[in-house]
Amino acid sequence: MIDLQGDADPGDDPWVLVEDWLPADDDPDRPQAVLATVGTDGCPNARTVLVSAVDRSGFAVHTHRDSRKVAELAAVPRAAMVVTWPGFTRQLVVRGDVVADAADSAARVWSARSEHLRRLAWLNDDVLAGRDRAGRVAGWAADVPVQAGSAPAPSWTGFRVMPQELTFWAGGADTASRRLQYRRVGEGWTRRWLAG
Ligand SMILES: Cc1cc2nc3c(=O)[nH]c(=O)nc-3n(C[C@H](O)[C@H](O)[C@H](O)COP(=O)(O)O)c2cc1C
Repeated sequence: MIDLQGDADPGDDPWVLVEDWLPADDDPDRPQAVLATVGTDGCPNARTVLVSAVDRSGFAVHTHRDSRKVAELAAVPRAAMVVTWPGFTRQLVVRGDVVADAADSAARVWSARSEHLRRLAWLNDDVLAGRDRAGRVAGWAADVPVQAGSAPAPSWTGFRVMPQELTFWAGGADTASRRLQYRRVGEGWTRRWLAG
């Protein structure tokens, strides 16, 4: 793990740090992030999501195509994401433009999802949410294709946050926390140290 409280040079390429800090895409234990969008009323909005995949094309999130976040991103295709680690150790803040996830990436993410998450993608709607408990349990048992090899639910969609700025925060036990911020400039990045 690259330690931003050490003296080793973290380098000019923030993706090296991203790959070091976040699990590989085939790790089923997906990182959680708070995803912030611009609300259609101008008020920021935020919710927790799973980071379904990460590579140099961005941070992928998958969700329901009728969700509020998707409507907000259609209106303003920019977002911020915050990933935190336990124990005041690390934080990563990503800000950037949002594009649709590629179909092949979405298919890979769907096949890696647990049956529970696939079932959610098929069944988790406001009608089910409003039913009584017995109705919600009965609705959850509906026969939907969630087995390995099944096609993604039609309501399921993905997008990628393509960073213009990545800020890595490192806590410190015997010194102050500090941040390393990378900003995209053309094809490269600038970087600077900031107070935590
Ligand atoms: C730990 C956790 C992980 C979640 N992961 C996702 C996710 O990957 N995709 C998703 O659509 N919703 C996820 N949710 C639910 C969202 O937080 C949110 O309630 C839902 O997507 C509706 O958000 P919206 O109305 O702002 O679009 C997750 C919630 C929690 C608590």
